[in-house]
Amino acid sequence: MTSIIAHRGASHYAPENSIPAFELAHEMKADGIETDVQLTKDNIPVLFHDESLKRIFGINGWINQYTLLELKQLDMGKSFHEKFAGTSIVTLEEFLVWVKDKPLTLHLELKNNKMAHKNLEKITYNLIAQHQLLDKTYFSTFSDASVSCLAGFQEIAHIGWLTSRQRRDLLSYALSIGATAIHIKHTLLRQRLVKEAKKNGIPVRVYTVNSSRLLHRCFSYNVDSIFTNVPDQAFVIRKDIYR
Ligand code: G3P
Ligand code: MG
Repeated sequence: MTSIIAHRGASHYAPENSIPAFELAHEMKADGIETDVQLTKDNIPVLFHDESLKRIFGINGWINQYTLLELKQLDMGKSFHEKFAGTSIVTLEEFLVWVKDKPLTLHLELKNNKMAHKNLEKITYNLIAQHQLLDKTYFSTFSDASVSCLAGFQEIAHIGWLTSRQRRDLLSYALSIGATAIHIKHTLLRQRLVKEAKKNGIPVRVYTVNSSRLLHRCFSYNVDSIFTNVPDQAFVIRKDIYR
């Protein structure tokens, strides 16, 4: 059965990558949570999608130009809705503590394709190992080099190569750089590709799947997982299809 992964939490209903978005995803019975990991100026892994602070915090600058203490002073809730005012950025460690006893898988996307975050793989890996959560962690990244770096860690079982670009050798390329799964943009979704991947034991995960039409398509192709901002709607449709 296709698993439903809440993309940046239940981000249609609460500020992306925030504790309220994660709480909601859990309440909506998502199977897992996808979130983006970057490093602050003082090398602390935090959950944040953009490299720039403009969209979420309304200020100039980049995530790696601010210390955690500085970022924690900023409000990332009120740009979404007044009722979330006071929501602050979440560290990876806070998220791990929150998720630890919940029946959720963790999909950690290392955001290092546009901005180089030195040692992001190692820092993230160490923290997850320290919290004994490696068995339910799925790593992913758009960076080919980072996929290969993750493949060097023996204990990491799930490495998704994220891509939005069409190419004939998509599956073999993913394997050649060390990925164990493909995480494709929904525009690349073809039943033929899903079948071929399944035949070769390669999980297919699709982002970002929000419309009813796409949700139906993904469930009917039986992809391994979907990343969605609306886990509640996905849950209803999946229930209907697998009835
Ligand atoms: O991990 C799936 C998806 O999150 C990749 O794209 O830009 O939403 O992080 P983006
Ligand atoms: Mg992401």
